[in-house]
Formats: sequence, C-alpha cells, structure tokens
Amino acid sequence: MAEVTIRMRPNGPLVIEGPFTLVDSRGAAFEIPPNKPAVALCRCGQSSKRPFCDGSHKTCGFASDEAPTPPALG
Ligand code: FES
Repeated sequence: MAEVTIRMRPNGPLVIEGPFTLVDSRGAAFEIPPNKPAVALCRCGQSSKRPFCDGSHKTCGFASDEAPTPPALG
C-alpha cells in the first residue's frame, strides 16, 4: 500500500511525501512533476506561489512548531 507522509517543518511549510493529488476548492488538480519526491505547501500565508512554499516563511517572522497533544487519560 502506498503511503503519504505530511511532515511539519519547524516555522515552515507542510512537506508532503508519497503519491497524492492536490486539488483546489473547485476540484481542479495542481500539476505535480512525477519525479518530485516531496512537495512543500505554504502554511505561513506569505508565499507568492501558493499553495506551494516559496521560502517567504524565512523572512516573514512565521513561527509555528506544534507537537501532537497526548491523548487524555481516564
Ligand atoms: S511556509 Fe514557506 S512560504 Fe509560507
């Protein structure tokens, strides 16, 4: 089974690895080169190539490095 991994980069994009399709709000697919092992999606909102990361997070002061919340006990 093919597996997709979405990795949060500290203070940066979401990096998606594995076979996936990225579609816009109308269902139109973005073209992803088949030889690209991973795609970085902007989560700072400052990229000029949205939804893709263009590196703007490095200069806009974006700060985010969340960790999963452990499940509640009991
Ligand atoms: S996360 Fe990289 S430009 Fe927004």
